[in-house]
Amino acid sequence: MIFASIHVSASPFPAPQLTAAPESKPPQDLVANVPNRTTISLDGTWRAIVDPYEGGLHSRFFENHKVKNKQELLEYDFDLSPGLKVPGDWNMQRDSLYFYEGPLWYKYSFDYKKKDGIRPFLYFGAANYFTRVYLNGHFLGDHTGGYTPFNFDVSDTLVDGDNFVVVEVNNTRHADGVPTLNTDWWNYGGITRDVEIVEVPKTYIQDYFVQLAKGSLDSIAGWVKVAGTSGAQAVTIDIPEANIKQTVTTDADGKGTFQFPAQKLDLWSPENPKLYKVVLSGAGDSVTDQIGFRSISTSGDKILLNGKPIFLRGISIHEEAPFRGGRAFSSEDDATLLGWAKELGCNFVRLAHYPHHESMVRAADRMGLLVWSEIPVYWSIDWKNPGTLDNAKNQLREEISRDHNRAAVILWSLGNETPINAGRTAFFTQTAAEARAMDPTRLLTAAMNVTTKQGEDTRVIDDPLGQIVDVLGLNEYIGWYEHSIDTTDHTHWTTPYDKPLIVSEFGADAPFNRHGAADERWTEEYQADLYKHQLAMWSKVPFLAGMSPWVLMDFQSPVRQLPQVQDFHNRKGLVSDRGQRKEAFYVLQNFYKEKAAAAAPAQ
Ligand code: GCU
Repeated sequence: MIFASIHVSASPFPAPQLTAAPESKPPQDLVANVPNRTTISLDGTWRAIVDPYEGGLHSRFFENHKVKNKQELLEYDFDLSPGLKVPGDWNMQRDSLYFYEGPLWYKYSFDYKKKDGIRPFLYFGAANYFTRVYLNGHFLGDHTGGYTPFNFDVSDTLVDGDNFVVVEVNNTRHADGVPTLNTDWWNYGGITRDVEIVEVPKTYIQDYFVQLAKGSLDSIAGWVKVAGTSGAQAVTIDIPEANIKQTVTTDADGKGTFQFPAQKLDLWSPENPKLYKVVLSGAGDSVTDQIGFRSISTSGDKILLNGKPIFLRGISIHEEAPFRGGRAFSSEDDATLLGWAKELGCNFVRLAHYPHHESMVRAADRMGLLVWSEIPVYWSIDWKNPGTLDNAKNQLREEISRDHNRAAVILWSLGNETPINAGRTAFFTQTAAEARAMDPTRLLTAAMNVTTKQGEDTRVIDDPLGQIVDVLGLNEYIGWYEHSIDTTDHTHWTTPYDKPLIVSEFGADAPFNRHGAADERWTEEYQADLYKHQLAMWSKVPFLAGMSPWVLMDFQSPVRQLPQVQDFHNRKGLVSDRGQRKEAFYVLQNFYKEKAAAAAPAQ
């Protein structure tokens, strides 16, 4: 344990409680395909100490100390402290934590039996926002970012029998954070996704990429990464149902690349979400995954799926738990949210504004829903801060590393509604390069919201970001934040880019069952009327390749305070947070039904 520096603020008042933070240490490279690995769940009730002044560092909460005699002074005791459910944000578990932003310490004790030849990892699906992890009093490392997984090799710190893990999570917002200080969603803090021990062999297949080669429908290209050994290893990629069995040899760094023919694959699509069993074995390890094979590309202003133009009938979704509120994390949450999207007639979902949990993306794989995945580079990020750029790149790497074998994912979105300036363009140039280097097969996009005007009625989508991305994303709120609904009737759109456009947001707030005339704001009738006019406007735009209106379900937001209407909820949902469908739900459903019918192959 290295206590790098004792932080004493330059304050006119007596020095506050000294805090002693361990020197930062990054997690290890992510173990791929955790859902198909041998795991021991640590989910359950963890003991929790709320620590607004972060005194727990100085008091060494991570030791989970117990007094040895009746003279000893000790001012904390995890086992006498109240519990918090993991996974789950803390805000929705205790009224006193509804608005809490700061450090909070968790402790969980568990039995473990060490096994010969096994390398155990301590794996977190996500924790928001800054996390330090200790096992049996040893500092393992820390992680920044609230929506991507991270893991630590605990071969040397896990013991036979009793173990205890202590986790400090701090959801304080930062001007140099990703996201930054202001968001239109709740800053749910805590260990918000599953925690498990993942058991892999000493030498293991750490990661792999098995997808159709870019631009091909009949050859598979990718790579495999073996860790825990220095020598070259032979790894077999076996796809029994496709009669494919290929072997690749890794280099001294453990990496091996491959490309081989794959004739007559049953290609993945929303209508046919075919997943193949893929077995990778070698280096003393074997891991099985379920992988779909499809091609995604653009041709001019069209998006092509498996070489054919597709219109993306989508909806935007926040990771908000239906009915109970808070961060969604379970397969039940996935089934409800994606079930509503299917009921709408969607073949596409925009998982806004950050990577959702892995089971949501795997559910989309199985259900045939194409996915727009996004990192939370949202609004006024600190563009000139190298640490902010590194943070965004790291979250992008973790997102891509986790989901790059999911056929459903077709778009990596680099951000949402960011101001046009040189720093931002440089920032996106870097993150785009990072994404393309990691995954040349998928399309890049970003939701833009700054356009220029041509005459009275024409809007031009000419944000410089359009040069960097493959697919243009546009958020526009004519009829809600600007002008009136009938402005849409005489608004036309153009762009200098020969690229497809996805209207990634439009919408209006309406609490369920609030009724009035169609020109009365905050009513279901107003929301429905806005959808009718917006859909009519966009139906006239030839380079429109899809849409994901804002938003599937009402969600909690600290900036939506209108009493008896918002009550800390953004009410643009087509479905209320209690699962009640609003009038606009059926307007969009009807539009998608007609779209699907028009696209269906002639009988
Ligand atoms: C913005 C933003 C969303 C927000 C929405 C709204 O476009 O992208 O995060 O919730 O508009 O104002 O409702």
